[in-house]
Amino acid sequence: MVSFAGDILPLFGKLEIGCMRKHGVLLDDYAYMSDSHGDGIFGTHANARHVYARLTGQERPRMPLNGPYWDDARLQKFKDWMDGEFAA
Ligand code: HEM
Repeated sequence: MVSFAGDILPLFGKLEIGCMRKHGVLLDDYAYMSDSHGDGIFGTHANARHVYARLTGQERPRMPLNGPYWDDARLQKFKDWMDGEFAA
């Protein structure tokens, strides 16, 4: 099973976490990342789904800003974490 603490958190660097915290995106905060609330775009888990959409480039600008962008294996791991119901 893909877990936030064991698999997802280590994918984010300190600079990325710090940069996004200023924008209110708390990449290292499980409560924020697993929040089940939707928004006008995603019906549920909007915080995590926007992060994923930025990582894939479905939402622009793609993240991390200026790259290097995540490869397919990393993207799949994040998707597996979401599909696995956002395990801690
Ligand atoms: C894996 C790394 C990163 C992820 C997952 C990520 C994720 C996101 C997300 C979800 C947003 C949308 C926020 C919103 O709509 O309120 C965003 C916006 C933004 N991020 Fe990142 N980010 C990452 C790295 C970075 C880094 C390293 C920087 C700075 C060098 C950065 C700078 C920005 C800026 C300036 C915006 C606003 C862009 C705009 O919409 O005009 N991000 N990011």
